[in-house]
Amino acid sequence: MKMTMSELEAEYIRRSPRSKQLFDLACKLTPAGVHSNIRFFKPYPLFAARGEGSKISDVDGNEYIDYVLGQGALFLGHAHPNVVKAVQEQAAKGSIYATANELEVKLAHKVAKMIPCAEMVRFANSGTEALMHAVRVARAYTKRDKIVKFEGAYHGFWDDLYVGVSLPFDKPMSSGIPSSVAGNTLLLEFNKLEVVERAVRENQVAAIVVEPVMGAGGSGIAAGVEYLKGLREISTDNGIALIFDEVITGFRMAPGGAQQYFGVVPDLTTLGKILGGGYPVGALAGKREIMQTIDPTKEGVRRWECAQHGGTFCGNPITMAAGLATLEEIDRAGGQLNNRVARLCGKIRKDLNDLFLRYRVKARAIGVGPSLGVFFTDGELKDARGLLSNDEEKRVAHCIWLITKGIWHPPIKGWYVSTAHKDADIQALIDKTEDFLKTTRS
Ligand SMILES: Cc1ncc(COP(=O)(O)O)c(C=O)c1O
Repeated sequence: MKMTMSELEAEYIRRSPRSKQLFDLACKLTPAGVHSNIRFFKPYPLFAARGEGSKISDVDGNEYIDYVLGQGALFLGHAHPNVVKAVQEQAAKGSIYATANELEVKLAHKVAKMIPCAEMVRFANSGTEALMHAVRVARAYTKRDKIVKFEGAYHGFWDDLYVGVSLPFDKPMSSGIPSSVAGNTLLLEFNKLEVVERAVRENQVAAIVVEPVMGAGGSGIAAGVEYLKGLREISTDNGIALIFDEVITGFRMAPGGAQQYFGVVPDLTTLGKILGGGYPVGALAGKREIMQTIDPTKEGVRRWECAQHGGTFCGNPITMAAGLATLEEIDRAGGQLNNRVARLCGKIRKDLNDLFLRYRVKARAIGVGPSLGVFFTDGELKDARGLLSNDEEKRVAHCIWLITKGIWHPPIKGWYVSTAHKDADIQALIDKTEDFLKTTRS
């Protein structure tokens, strides 16, 4: 490589003295200086000052085209005027009531209208929380303990699902997770029906949890339609709850999420990110019969016979207002916004892959529709095992290079495009990537 990693980092540091100062201060009180481990990268993360449309700025006054977008939460871009207005209006009326509010009803109706499996809805505060409750509901409904999840899939930080997200899959993802907990999770190879069939034959499985398109663990690696149909069939035949984790794909792949995009309807789905319009959210939605496992008001049901769910901030009116404003935009456009983002992602995939070919770089831009991933391997990426051949050093260097050129994509795996992105934003990513390939050509 003509430009070394330390030269790249030196340029990064030169452009961000105020971020460096804040990072040093943060580290005095906060492990690694960040409040989510994924946000740390070397030399230090930038400190954001504001976001508007497709752009984000840092505390040193640098502006970036944002390809992270709140880790996928900002499908309409930063500070969409309708979302800002809805939040301001609600904030003036109070931020939490700790009793039911009308916005919860409106947003639940909107979710039920848009998401095919959503006959009933419960709101939570994060995707992690939604997944935790989805599994609890599935276990309560089936009266079984075991769950199936797939290698490379990220479903949040909850112990039972924080298993086998990144390579090597045979090592725990975190210290502090009891092996007895992980023992209830069957970690399977993705996109292979026969391993699911075998696991289901040999175990009493409550739920199969799947990301229809992988996000944080392998952005853009998609399940095949036949595979999803196969999971549907296996689940139905064996009385298992099929859970689509649509925290990323929900409202993105199509207004009705991946279940609409692929035409396969799960029993339960978990939502988050876009649902909250940029405010903390999660949701659990699904078939009435299963969701009613949560209901403590049914005649004769005792506490221990129902799946408890709740929390101080569930159904928070500010989040509900932001989510409603966001879903109204997506729903009103009848798929046009999703198609536009899919077109932009398609352009990125095509142009980057052309460049990788032209510069003879082992890399590929992957994804279907409005999903995107960029990896430095020429191997097939049908599952997360394919990432074994990914040149991580090069992938990180590409990201740091882009940041120094005004494109915000720290070295996480997920790439996101919003409806606020213009053709010029897309072209900038392609041009700056070409500069990177030229500079690093051996
Ligand atoms: C597919 C998926 N599920 C669950 C989660 C966890 O969501 P949260 O970060 O809101 O807890 C994420 C977060 O990135 C995700 O990508």
